[in-house]
Amino acid sequence: MEVSSVLLCSGCSPWQGFLLTASLLTCWLLPTTAQVTLKSSPPQVVEGENVLLSADNLPENIIAFAWYKGETDMNRGIALYSLRYTVSLTGPVHSGRETLYSDGSLWIKNVTQEDTGFYTFRIINNHGKIQSNTTLFLHVKSSLFVCGRPSNIDEPTIESVPVSVSEWGSVLLRVHNLPENLRTLFWYKGVLVLKKLEIARYRTTKNTYELGPVHSGRETVYSNGSLLLQNVTWKDTGFYTLRTLSTDLKVEITHIYLQVNKPVTQPFLRVTVSTVTVQSSVVFTCLSDNTGVSIRWLFKNRNLQVTERMTLSPSNCQLRIHVVRREDAGQYRCEAFNPISSKTSRPVSLAVISE
Ligand SMILES: *[C@@H]1O[C@H](CO)[C@@H](O)[C@H](O)[C@H]1NC(C)=O
Ligand SMILES: *[C@@H]1O[C@H](CO)[C@@H](O)[C@H](O)[C@H]1NC(C)=O
Ligand SMILES: *[C@@H]1O[C@H](CO)[C@@H](O)[C@H](O)[C@H]1NC(C)=O
Ligand SMILES: *[C@@H]1O[C@H](CO)[C@@H](O)[C@H](O)[C@H]1NC(C)=O
Repeated sequence: MEVSSVLLCSGCSPWQGFLLTASLLTCWLLPTTAQVTLKSSPPQVVEGENVLLSADNLPENIIAFAWYKGETDMNRGIALYSLRYTVSLTGPVHSGRETLYSDGSLWIKNVTQEDTGFYTFRIINNHGKIQSNTTLFLHVKSSLFVCGRPSNIDEPTIESVPVSVSEWGSVLLRVHNLPENLRTLFWYKGVLVLKKLEIARYRTTKNTYELGPVHSGRETVYSNGSLLLQNVTWKDTGFYTLRTLSTDLKVEITHIYLQVNKPVTQPFLRVTVSTVTVQSSVVFTCLSDNTGVSIRWLFKNRNLQVTERMTLSPSNCQLRIHVVRREDAGQYRCEAFNPISSKTSRPVSLAVISE
């Protein structure tokens, strides 16, 4: 099946064009078969709470993945993530409360009972075809049936300081609202609370720290709960989970996503033809080796004014001029940037001639 028939309806054409583009530009190895598993954290969720639907065992060689509402309806896309361009695109049933992360997890804020139902995670391979479907049922419970549940206000929250960190830098995952009667706190790498993923724990009663199996020597847990990560690498990108245990045996679990940025390398600008006739069309493609970058376009060394004769792909990596005019002649460049750095491509000149 082609992307056009597989992915989405007319209302969501951006995904389509995007995936076609992605499959044209990439040259990935054939995917390996892996059994993707889905998990909801917490497993039981009450309306008004947040939930994380995570996907484990993602195969290596894939170009994109997407979450859908329901089991079979391909028109009900929530969000799609392209690994090649490291962008997340929203689908027709995105409610504004969902965030899709690069590891496949879907974070749904402030769930309602209407969110109850099947969620399907689909992996798209290099031919733009669906390689696997995995489904999970999410049951959102009514808050009316939950007696004496404490409000969310008292739950611990985590903030990343700074918000964006570059490779070899340091970041503090600062914890607020720790329970006053805290007994032990645990930090885990990833979204799962598993002994083998523990970074470290701190026991208030004895004022002792214990390192876990995934402690790399670069992490420090403070008595106020905060976790300091030093000399980070891009491999540190991902979720971190804090679990607190109070003296009354109440457990709270909180997640944070950390993005480690690398300085960008110079992008490469390619054009379909460098001499075009008036009224024809031309496509520029900006290729970047980096993940997590944004792209902007320059024309004659100034920001490009995108007119109605031009179209940018959803991730901005392609610029198409449909009806070329004389005034489009000149030097084009693209700039790749992330929160810590930016690099501009070498210029590409476009010549415009009459018929
Ligand atoms: C995935 O589900 C869709 C919709 O039900 C179906 O068309 C497709 O063949 C399935 N693909 C795989 C690999 O199971
Ligand atoms: C959560 O959703 C409800 C309606 O479903 C809304 O009244 C409330 O303000 C929302 N809360 C937050 C924190 O967004
Ligand atoms: C926790 O302690 C660390 C190290 O002393 C400090 O940098 C951080 O600001 C503290 N966090 C809070 C929330 O006070
Ligand atoms: C950071 O890590 C790199 C490689 O892992 C190492 O070469 C370097 O010495 C470390 N720097 C510090 C300040 O620990």
